[in-house]
Amino acid sequence: MTQERANKTGFETRAIHAGYEPDAMTGAVIPPIYASSTYKQDGVGGLRGGYEYSRSANPTRTALEGALAAVEDGVRGFAFASGLAAEDTIIRALTGTGGHVVIPDDAYGGTYRLFDKVAKVWGLDHSPAPVADTEAVAAAIEPGRTRLVWVETPTNPMLTIGDIEALATVAHDAGALLVVDNTFASPYLQQPLTLGADVVVHSTTKYVGGHSDVVGGAVIVRDLELAEKIAFHQNAMGAVAGPFDSFLVNRGLKTLHVRMDRHCDNAERVVAFLDADPRVTEVIYPGLTSHPGHEVAARQMKRFGGMVSFRVAGGVERALAVCERAEVFTLAESLGGIESLIEHPGRMTHASVAGTDLEVPDDLIRLSVGIESVEDLLADLDRALG
Ligand SMILES: Cc1ncc(COP(=O)(O)O)c(C=O)c1O
Repeated sequence: MTQERANKTGFETRAIHAGYEPDAMTGAVIPPIYASSTYKQDGVGGLRGGYEYSRSANPTRTALEGALAAVEDGVRGFAFASGLAAEDTIIRALTGTGGHVVIPDDAYGGTYRLFDKVAKVWGLDHSPAPVADTEAVAAAIEPGRTRLVWVETPTNPMLTIGDIEALATVAHDAGALLVVDNTFASPYLQQPLTLGADVVVHSTTKYVGGHSDVVGGAVIVRDLELAEKIAFHQNAMGAVAGPFDSFLVNRGLKTLHVRMDRHCDNAERVVAFLDADPRVTEVIYPGLTSHPGHEVAARQMKRFGGMVSFRVAGGVERALAVCERAEVFTLAESLGGIESLIEHPGRMTHASVAGTDLEVPDDLIRLSVGIESVEDLLADLDRALG
């Protein structure tokens, strides 16, 4: 299928066909791993297909980048060595020095660390604001100085929901860009660019890769001018995804829709189980009508995702014991893979925000609900709760 045609198809078809047409020479149906750092030139400057050196472009990465742009409805996608490398590139490409950004007050700990311990040293200030409260985000904007309004929705690990359309309006009114970290929803459940966001960022380590076998990141934009800036910095800074990693992420992307539907099915059953359990004091899931962001999530997400957070009676000791007793749920950081994971954000993924405004409750447990038999997941949680 031509790329022009692929880009007009449904999400599932785009995930499988966009970014690559079977290789003209061999007919290879799947993008080969081009393990070449450099490319023969037909005379000085006579590049074949624009390939010169693999930091600037590599055909395996090009295939992935085309597919990423197509599934997020953007004009261009970029693949990076990690989610944080993707974030770093956005910050350097789009903020300049002496600026300011608004960030979620419950951002992923690594994102907060990047703003607070790295970007701040270069002179970029940040103000944490609750993404669920558009007015509070608007109040945190410093007109003339704020370059980016950065949101996650749902956030990690509190699963707070921000209204992307409304946030885009407040950012644009103040001359800032809206960046949405779409890692938790994945492009299958939510497409921020179609709701007014300017930049989407992913840790493709998570749902897009989907098999816990690769670390990667992505940036997708809907504007060619922004694309030029990101492209320049991607090459100038060099934190690109290698061909082997690009292959794995692209392979994961092709089954994203099928996996994601099963993640959602299983998460809904886990939520119903936990919600009815007296050992659990609170279940946090945007699909629950009691979740304060439920209506917004229902409007901007196809379904509510595979991430579930909950708090237990008995405080931190109980929370740690539940994490340690689980067997089908593996005690590990990260999320979005086929296997179920359990973790204690306060001591694990979010340990770096302890003592800051972003500190998370110590009786909180986060689940990445995988696609195993749901009966096994429920039995495991029942046993782990003790
Ligand atoms: C929401 C979110 N954004 C960004 C990142 C960073 O991605 P990476 O670990 O691939 O650098 C993570 C990692 O957990 C994350 O959960």
